[in-house]
Amino acid sequence: MTPAKVLRNATVVNTSVEGGYDFERNVTLILKDGEIKAIVDDQGLIEALSDSPIEAEIDCQGRIVTPGLIDCHSHLIYGGNRIDEFNARMAGATYAEIALGGGGIKQTVEMTRSASFDDLYEGAKARMKTMASYGLTTLEIKSGYGLEFETEKKMLSVARKLDGYLGITITSTYLGAHSIPKEFEGDAGGYLDQILNHDLPEMIALGLCDAVDIFCESIAFDTLATKQLLGAAKSLGVGVKAHVEQLTSTDGTAVVVDLGGLSVDHLEYISDESIAKLANSKTVAVVLPGAYYFLREKKAPPVDKLIKNKIPIAIATDHNPGTSPLYSLLLAMNMSAVLFGLTPSYALRSTTKNAAMALGFRDRGEIAPGLRGDLAIWDLEDPNELTYQIGGSPLWGRVANGEIYV
Ligand code: NIG
Ligand code: FE
Repeated sequence: MTPAKVLRNATVVNTSVEGGYDFERNVTLILKDGEIKAIVDDQGLIEALSDSPIEAEIDCQGRIVTPGLIDCHSHLIYGGNRIDEFNARMAGATYAEIALGGGGIKQTVEMTRSASFDDLYEGAKARMKTMASYGLTTLEIKSGYGLEFETEKKMLSVARKLDGYLGITITSTYLGAHSIPKEFEGDAGGYLDQILNHDLPEMIALGLCDAVDIFCESIAFDTLATKQLLGAAKSLGVGVKAHVEQLTSTDGTAVVVDLGGLSVDHLEYISDESIAKLANSKTVAVVLPGAYYFLREKKAPPVDKLIKNKIPIAIATDHNPGTSPLYSLLLAMNMSAVLFGLTPSYALRSTTKNAAMALGFRDRGEIAPGLRGDLAIWDLEDPNELTYQIGGSPLWGRVANGEIYV
């Protein structure tokens, strides 16, 4: 007889309705074994609980309950910060100029290589705590600030240790191909060989990564490298995705789609041909308004065309020290509406159902019996207010892995 937890008087929001929401008012949610066991009216409660003692009970007082928010793209583990680079960019330098001058990602690589496991762990944990205050229950974290085996392994091990903190699921992604390390300056092929022949298979054998990512861009790796790396990852049995079309248009999207990839992320410069390719696939389009905002980009991803082609769009923070020191998925939703033109109801789907799809999760992102007990309880009456507010957090409570955090 596993004990149950009960959330009474909830207004459950169904985010899968085209162009809006469905509400189920005055319902009781029953959680058991980390899952949503049943959604009932009070009449049905006695029946549903006939064999279970109640361990905890909360009165939501009519507040709205959504699926817990899912951040499907972050670089949460890193040493130091990039405030100097921010100052330089605000004085007129561009991100690409700084990267080519040896700053940018490379600067964080130095600071992450020299950071201890504990420092990286404590830093990321503190960031997760802030993210949780905006309703987070699942978070993807990438490596990519080591660019050599030991530091990449250190980052991914930190990610594994963070799993479950405040009930948050961590899924980890190997991004060894984030940039070309100084040891392989001018020899991207040499570094790629090192990854293909040793680092990638080893990381997978150690069970440290759930997926593989690459920065496919003019200032990083080309589409051929993307094809080789993601092809190898796929054949080793992990999911694949890529940072594509952020600063320039490439064939990166097509490569990921051909491999049945989970997501293509950024997409400011995605071409009409690549959109057509994406339209006939299961790959999710991930947009990252924090990076667009922080880099003061001028070209927004064409979300109108993505929606017209029925391509699922997810929104993520892309939290990283260089291009998006953003903690709040709610703020990312607001930015996606104001800067990219997503509707508020679509924005909520983008951080729940679609974000789950981008990570390959089928057990979350919606509220239904049998799904994981990941919920956010908001002190609001209208879910559109989640996207309307700028920088606030109307979070009243969170349920993660069936545990209640109020
Ligand atoms: O998603 N585009 C590449 N990677 C990160 C930036 C990382 C950094 O600048 O430290 C991004 O924007
Ligand atoms: Fe990123």
